[in-house]
Amino acid sequence: MQPPKSNMSEVPTASTVLLTGASGYVGGRLIPLLEQQPVVLRCLARNPDKLRPQVKNSTEVVRGDVLEAPSLDKALQGVHTAYYLVHLMSGSLDFEKEDRQAAKNFADAAKRAGVHRIIYLGGLGDDADPELSPHLRSRHEVGEILRESGVETIEFRAGMVVGAGSLSYQLLKSLTDRLPVMICPLWLTTPTQPIAIDDVLGYLLAAKDLPKGESRIFEIGSPDVVTYGDLIREYARQQGLRRWLIFVPVLTPYLSGLWLALVTPSSFEVGRHLIEGLKNPTVVRDSNALDVFSIRPMGVEEAIRSAIDGAT
Ligand SMILES: NC(=O)c1ccc[n+]([C@@H]2O[C@H](COP(=O)([O-])OP(=O)(O)OC[C@H]3O[C@@H](n4cnc5c(N)ncnc54)[C@H](OP(=O)(O)O)[C@@H]3O)[C@@H](O)[C@H]2O)c1
Repeated sequence: MQPPKSNMSEVPTASTVLLTGASGYVGGRLIPLLEQQPVVLRCLARNPDKLRPQVKNSTEVVRGDVLEAPSLDKALQGVHTAYYLVHLMSGSLDFEKEDRQAAKNFADAAKRAGVHRIIYLGGLGDDADPELSPHLRSRHEVGEILRESGVETIEFRAGMVVGAGSLSYQLLKSLTDRLPVMICPLWLTTPTQPIAIDDVLGYLLAAKDLPKGESRIFEIGSPDVVTYGDLIREYARQQGLRRWLIFVPVLTPYLSGLWLALVTPSSFEVGRHLIEGLKNPTVVRDSNALDVFSIRPMGVEEAIRSAIDGAT
């Protein structure tokens, strides 16, 4: 007698999505959104026990470290789409070298595992700028390494992510909350296009469902081109604070970093790397994201209001 025909092939199997940086700000905000999607979600964490209480029972949490290549093979097994939301600025003496190695490890492991797509969030900034900060240069290099693996890579390049838990936004908030008068380096007048966390999350989610294609880079930002000084003034205005900004021509990034260490709770090292990047314009020069995605990022005023409300 013939065995009954299996209809297994008709049952669509949900694809597996790996999220790195799940314990971080952007990754952490992406978890509940991915948990609502018809996918199996697997989070990679250096400390799984810390992450587990923050995810649903149905979400897998695996131990992994992007600097430990073998841990990535296991984490990437059977994965269709992998989010790379990691940077090594916090715990590294030479973050450029370590971020390079981490991206290489991840790219190689993704290739071996047959991953279909990598989605990466990096930074804005002009590659042709010879004075691009080490932080921004490294963010671009990571994108390049991921693409070189041959796995289709969707790289988003963003400026400051505006949201309550975002380190760069917290720097701005701490400075403005604490200092009625600020001695500001001239490069606080550099043009930039921040983006609200909700818009970033919208892009990251939508990238998962793009039709299969070539690797691409999308520059994303709010429609407003502003300066960091404008952001300080807008935050102060919304909080009802009177603030004076006095611009001086010479205040080296190193001194600014020391100054930040005194007035903000964030780590000196990370703050210094971020500050170095403030001298580089971070504006959207290629508006392709607006053609490919239906997301229309909110303006700076609304983004700051959402961050102050704490909803983000
Ligand atoms: N926030 C912004 O304003 C902004 C702007 C533009 C682009 N981005 C990009 O967005 C991405 C995420 O940024 P974020 O603000 O969410 O950063 P974040 O809060 O500092 O999180 C960084 C994440 O990286 C993980 N990580 C560090 N070293 C690791 C390692 N060796 N192995 C595995 N994981 C490791 C951390 O895990 P642990 O908990 O184990 O340390 C953490 O989950 C980054 O690529 C960043 O460049 C952020």
